[in-house]
Amino acid sequence: MAGRFTARRVTTPDMAAIDEPPPSALEGIAWTVFPDASPEPPPSAPAASAAAPAPAAPPPSGNPLLTEKLLDAKVRLHRRLIEEINLSALEKLPEDEIRRHVQQLVSQYVLVERLALNAQELAEFVSEILDEMTGLGPLEPLLKDPTISDILINGHECVYVERGGVLEPLSVRFKDEQHLLRIINKIVSAVGRRVDESHPLCDARLLDGSRVNVAVRPIGVDGPLVSIRKFSKKKLDLSKLVEVNALRPQMAEVLAAAVRARISTIISGGTGSGKTTMLNALSAFISEKERLLTIEDAAELQLQQPHVGRMETRPPNIEGKGEIRQRDLVKNALRMRPDRIILGECRGEEAFDMLQAMNTGHEGSMATIHANTPRDAITRLEQMIGMAGLPMTVASIRGQIANAVQLVVQLSRQSDGKRKVTSIAEVTGLEGDIIQMQEIFKYVRTGTKPDGTVEGHFQATGVRPRFLAHLVTQGIKIPGSYFDPSQPL
Ligand SMILES: Nc1ncnc2c1ncn2[C@@H]1O[C@H](COP(=O)(O)OP(=O)(O)OP(=O)(O)O)[C@@H](O)[C@H]1O
Ligand SMILES: [Mg+2]
Repeated sequence: MAGRFTARRVTTPDMAAIDEPPPSALEGIAWTVFPDASPEPPPSAPAASAAAPAPAAPPPSGNPLLTEKLLDAKVRLHRRLIEEINLSALEKLPEDEIRRHVQQLVSQYVLVERLALNAQELAEFVSEILDEMTGLGPLEPLLKDPTISDILINGHECVYVERGGVLEPLSVRFKDEQHLLRIINKIVSAVGRRVDESHPLCDARLLDGSRVNVAVRPIGVDGPLVSIRKFSKKKLDLSKLVEVNALRPQMAEVLAAAVRARISTIISGGTGSGKTTMLNALSAFISEKERLLTIEDAAELQLQQPHVGRMETRPPNIEGKGEIRQRDLVKNALRMRPDRIILGECRGEEAFDMLQAMNTGHEGSMATIHANTPRDAITRLEQMIGMAGLPMTVASIRGQIANAVQLVVQLSRQSDGKRKVTSIAEVTGLEGDIIQMQEIFKYVRTGTKPDGTVEGHFQATGVRPRFLAHLVTQGIKIPGSYFDPSQPL
């Protein structure tokens, strides 16, 4: 990849008509761009002819712009730009200067290519070229659009985005698979990786904190698959979640009190159901005096406390060495004198160490889990510990879970795209070898409006949580009416 980190000049036959580049990034580059149809000058063409001004071909009037032609032109121009320009020098220039230079080059190119562009289209073309050069090409506008939360690419011709919890297809596409692969490698090179057939899977993170997963051929059967969870700039704190009716104020108050009183909590939900968002929102209620350690694959959490140590796992390098897993980090965290450990997502062998931590003085630790109900979340934990291959009986695994986890917050994304806290359940202990749980609040779905909007309401189940007694010892009082099912929430 002729990435933004390298500065090189490649002389290919169709580049032969280009003059020697000046020492600075763009200064003095004068290009003659040969349209597809015109014969290429021979490689030995004298350099002088290259500097000749572009023939002033008037754009054919009334000729409708073909997206295909534009896309093609952009990619070709971009290739020439990255091959010719000293990009590392370019990056040091102020943005308006780069823009001015690119504008000149593009105007010249547009003239030669006979592309009929008006002023606005020309400006768009310039910014798309700039996006290609210094950013992530067709992805840039999507990354800048604050209404988009996820970008999902299934091969170079198929892009979906999620807006307001609903997926929609876009007409955005890449020129070809190579174009998409080039952008993918630009993303993953930032984390020192490369994807190709021998390393087809990769997790990465964009500069703004967005999370990226890539799967290319042969794993991606029809071409590269890219999934981007955009870093959300608008923060959804607990009061905001109440505002958007993800839960009721009474439920929020109980959750905030539980976090303050160091009740160990698991946040459970499906993909994109808002687990990380909820974990972030709840973490705001942890005392500023506590030392927190966060462990994630890609750091997404934004804890507001002053005393936070953030750790990220590391995948193995190209030789398959140097991997640092969540389990290593949880173990290590225990040597770092944390008051609480916040595990971005518990999904394997680290579950055991996390429960150990919760049982040994790190109460109030939190983690998220992929599961569909609170009971399911507990079962998943059990399976994860089972997978760690420790010589433990089912009864002792369950005992460990029942001692460690006190609260499960269940989230789900409804069919209309809205995220809701569908259940808050308490783990009350072990009877025989069955983990006892009781639901405190739930969301009751009552129907669906003709436009697809889900109808329903939140409800207390009538169960008073056992941890209320613990809250009282911490000086936190919750009105009993919150748990009365006859009182509307
Ligand atoms: N209650 C909500 N209302 C509207 N948008 C929300 C809500 N909760 C979360 N979101 C948005 O939904 C997207 C997914 O949220 P989040 O990253 O928290 O999900 P997740 O369950 O952690 O996903 P994953 O399983 O991929 O880790 C984010 O863009 C977030 O801003
Ligand atoms: Mg998440």
